[in-house]
Amino acid sequence: MKCIDEISKIFAGSTVAEAASLVKGEELFLVYDAAAGVYAGEFIDALTGDAKVLGTVALEVSEEMKNMDTVLSIARSMLSAGVSRQALVVSIGGGITSDIAGFTASIYKRGIRYANIPTTLLSQVDAAIGGKTGVNLDDYKNMLGVIVQPEFTFICPSVLSTLPRRDFLSGAAELLKTLIIDNSAGLYEKAVEVLSMPPSGDLLPLISAAASVKAGIVSRDMYEAGERKKLNLGHTWAHAIEHEALLRGDDITHGEAVAMGIIIAAERSDSALATRLKADFLKVGLPLECPYPLEALTDAVRRDKKAGDGWIDLIVPHGIGDVRIERTAL
Ligand SMILES: NC(=O)c1ccc[n+]([C@@H]2O[C@H](COP(=O)([O-])OP(=O)(O)OC[C@H]3O[C@@H](n4cnc5c(N)ncnc54)[C@H](O)[C@@H]3O)[C@@H](O)[C@H]2O)c1
Repeated sequence: MKCIDEISKIFAGSTVAEAASLVKGEELFLVYDAAAGVYAGEFIDALTGDAKVLGTVALEVSEEMKNMDTVLSIARSMLSAGVSRQALVVSIGGGITSDIAGFTASIYKRGIRYANIPTTLLSQVDAAIGGKTGVNLDDYKNMLGVIVQPEFTFICPSVLSTLPRRDFLSGAAELLKTLIIDNSAGLYEKAVEVLSMPPSGDLLPLISAAASVKAGIVSRDMYEAGERKKLNLGHTWAHAIEHEALLRGDDITHGEAVAMGIIIAAERSDSALATRLKADFLKVGLPLECPYPLEALTDAVRRDKKAGDGWIDLIVPHGIGDVRIERTAL
């Protein structure tokens, strides 16, 4: 097992079973994505008496069930399983699972520890790192939540082999976003090439680079007073697109919305950069065009949880590895 980032306690291994060594002697409560149930099974099998599993909850994930009802139902299961304040909640699944499980753990009995075993590319490079947890409120994304760091995040790229291509691409958008923010490892072009092909061993250095960039930013600015805002590149527009999609019953993944949001941000900033990003995203297979008119998104942007009174800090891309926080009137 390799340690990618000591501060954020991010580890990488070649099988999910290796994560069992990180939870020796613990009392565990597992929240896992039913679609990733095979990995939850591998993890449980590997515990072999080293840890005690008090209970499990399998989730059929969707943005619609990412809400307080699900949190309450998991908390009730934890209570009836006798989960104490010493126990560790382990989430095995994508960003929806880790957001819900992390939030539930963080408020259960005023907060117990949780750890993430992310099974989507998006959660390996983004959602499972940095401690943001939460659920949607009505049609508004991630309106209820807290920032509490996970005990550890265990990344295993081999789990991505069962991930549908569309979900893989959703993670590709977040991975590219992170390298657009910070390309100090010089891997952006390599990422475009590798992500345009089926998942392979070449992914791990890219996942590690993106995870390290995010972990580094979070360690310098956990509560998003400054630099962490950069991780929202494309997200103000993405959240507005996702809100509109929920209202209309359209099916747009978070990563697809992020890809469209980055293009909107680039088009408003630098047309040459927008052209380059469009070519790169097209090569990878990401959508480029937002299906809704910008005016339809403006109301949701005003209600963005990051908006102030009449202003919002937009993350404006000026080049690969050069994004700036620019306060913009609404
Ligand atoms: N907390 C954060 O910092 C943060 C950051 C980015 C995104 N998010 C949140 O993450 C969510 C999106 O995460 P996601 O893209 O991982 O979505 P997700 O959790 O919905 O997973 C995507 C799909 O993949 C399936 N799946 C998961 N692992 C699988 C596997 N190994 N094989 C086959 N299928 C598998 C799931 O069942 C689901 O259908 C959004 O709700 C978003 O708001 C949170």
